[in-house]
Amino acid sequence: MSNGKYSKLWTVNVISFILFVILCSTGLINWLVLPRGYEARGNFLVSLRHFFIAIHEWAGLIFIVLIAIHIILHWPYIKSNLKKYGIMK
Ligand code: HEM
Repeated sequence: MSNGKYSKLWTVNVISFILFVILCSTGLINWLVLPRGYEARGNFLVSLRHFFIAIHEWAGLIFIVLIAIHIILHWPYIKSNLKKYGIMK
């Protein structure tokens, strides 16, 4: 693999990992910690929930794009394996 491609993959992987950690924390905090609906009325925690939902959604979208780029960068390897195992001609 060329050096330029390797450094692109490294960057994509590091950013993906950071986004994954953000996705896990915002998803789990919203699900298990923050109050929801009527429970959270008049409470600043409801704003925190909305903030975390926005972060979770945008991080999720960027994460999906980065995973697609990750697959594209690995495409020659994936293609050669698909050929090797007879899944692709
Ligand atoms: C591509 C990655 C992801 C996308 C696109 C995504 C998207 C979403 C969306 C749209 C919601 C609903 C938010 C709302 O209430 O409006 C949600 C909720 C949730 N997500 Fe994710 N998510 C992703 C990854 C993850 C990961 C890695 C975790 C790991 C823990 C996670 C945990 C959760 C949890 C626990 C909830 C429920 C929160 C609640 O009940 O309030 N998500 N996610």
